[in-house]
Amino acid sequence: MRVLIGSNSQQVARIAADNVLSALPEPGSTVRQVLGLATGSSPLGLYRELGLAVSESRADFSHTLGFALDEYIGIPQTHPQSYRQTLITEVCNVIGLRPENLFVPQGTGNSVIAVQKAADDYDTSIAAVGGVQVQILGIGANGHLGFNEPGSALRSRTRIKRLASKTREDNARFFSGINHVPTHCVTQGLGTILEAGRLVLVATGFGKADAIAAALEGPLSASCPGSVLQLHPDAVVVLDDAAASRLKLREYYDDAAAGISEEHLVVL
Ligand code: GLP
Repeated sequence: MRVLIGSNSQQVARIAADNVLSALPEPGSTVRQVLGLATGSSPLGLYRELGLAVSESRADFSHTLGFALDEYIGIPQTHPQSYRQTLITEVCNVIGLRPENLFVPQGTGNSVIAVQKAADDYDTSIAAVGGVQVQILGIGANGHLGFNEPGSALRSRTRIKRLASKTREDNARFFSGINHVPTHCVTQGLGTILEAGRLVLVATGFGKADAIAAALEGPLSASCPGSVLQLHPDAVVVLDDAAASRLKLREYYDDAAAGISEEHLVVL
């Protein structure tokens, strides 16, 4: 795992964007880009940086496929707070990913079985395009990834989940009161997320410090879904000082972030 700590939100966004772009096939390559998308405030600066890269011809998402992490159950796709609409506004419109190339788990259906069947099909459709190359992630204050709440199976697949009370409270600000926040969702599973080629997680602010410390330095445990980052061979975690404030290994991360060069190969 690489832990990279920026000194301000702009730097965090830029470091995260660089780590997304470096793991995607070059624009114009015969391999189509497949990007995993997260909602939430944490990656907004990253998306702005990707938009800047497009305007400077360093990136092109016009043929990229985007797969969302999760979606609410019980609100229509057209609801302004549905993750489909949120991603169209906050990602498609910013980086030039076409809405027809945006795939979001289906949170509506005639039966619970139909919604779960669509969730199964979602994993199949990710696999059918060769898998997500880079998955962008935030983390919940309770350690959730996507909507994999504490207690989620570490190898779970895309499925229906009950939202934790803490998550519903945290997200109530986007709805007209807690009673309007859905109780359930469809989320990529932790096992699904772990299949992405690279994970880039962004977290900022003191409110995330405990979740980050538990995810990066705590035990691998369903009690902190973010701890599955420890299982991934190419996980990049980009933090500000506040989100990094409870990390015990901060000094080591800073030393390691400086990288290796030929001078380190000189035999002592
Ligand atoms: C939601 C999303 C998560 C996101 C989390 C944190 O619950 N389902 O994918 O990581 O919120 O959001 P924020 O970045 O706004 O703190």
